[in-house]
Amino acid sequence: MSDKYIGRKEILANLKALQKKRKASLVVIKGRRRVGKSRLAEEFGRNQIFLPFTGLPPLEGITAQDQKNNFAQQLAIHYKLKNFTFLDWGDAFTALGNLLTKDPTVILFDEISWLSYEDSLFLAKFKVWWDINHGKFPQLVLILCGSVSSWIEENILKNTAFFGRVSLTIALQPLSIKESVDLLKSNGVKGSTYDFYKILSITGGIPWYLEQILPTKLVDGNISDLCFNPNGLLVDEFNKIFHDLLDYKELFIKKFFLF
Ligand SMILES: Nc1ncnc2c1ncn2[C@@H]1O[C@H](COP(=O)(O)OP(=O)(O)OP(=O)(O)O)[C@@H](O)[C@H]1O
Ligand SMILES: [Mg+2]
Repeated sequence: MSDKYIGRKEILANLKALQKKRKASLVVIKGRRRVGKSRLAEEFGRNQIFLPFTGLPPLEGITAQDQKNNFAQQLAIHYKLKNFTFLDWGDAFTALGNLLTKDPTVILFDEISWLSYEDSLFLAKFKVWWDINHGKFPQLVLILCGSVSSWIEENILKNTAFFGRVSLTIALQPLSIKESVDLLKSNGVKGSTYDFYKILSITGGIPWYLEQILPTKLVDGNISDLCFNPNGLLVDEFNKIFHDLLDYKELFIKKFFLF
């Protein structure tokens, strides 16, 4: 992970402005995998209370109760509590609300389509909790974040239950060419303009791919390792992303597109 945070200044300024309104705000961050959604929330949460909750990837065997257990575990870690769990999302949000203060706070529900996996009550209970409680926390920003854009559109942005509640929607884009080069340089990567061009032609402005370029190796060696070595990180990336973006229903759809 790059220590230096590159770009996104306007987005961070918009988030800070939102918090100055002294009214709790609901924010949506959507964008493709590896584009920097979680890090953006983390950067915004810096120097204030930051409470990230991440859903478990819905692998075979993961149940709706596992997601609740995992949420409870993360809550216990944030507040140094003994382990406990919930049977109902309403209880989970109430417990979270009981621990919140009026101090500047950022809550992140990361990979929200995973958190609410196979439990249609997640969003309904969250909406009820938010409506009743958000007025109590004037400096709270709650971020709903996900890479399955179609899920976010369908379940939050176009869901009448959330109309008038989302203060800001951020569709996070890849870094610009200049920002990408800045990130490479801040990671110690050196080279000619042509070298940077070659790197960007395989990574685009996706921070996680840019981070894989090792400064200790020549650019061609890096590209060869990432893309042509059978174990290279980018060799199987398409399949992984396709799998996630289609919410683990990819087999049928992939067959439809590719064959
Ligand atoms: N603007 C940035 N400057 C420097 N590093 C960044 C920036 N954005 C993201 N990164 C780094 O890139 C990597 C990927 O970012 P992050 O995990 O936030 O992406 P994501 O969109 O949440 O990915 P995923 O969909 O896989 O969860 C992380 O190591 C993060 O620290
Ligand atoms: Mg993430």
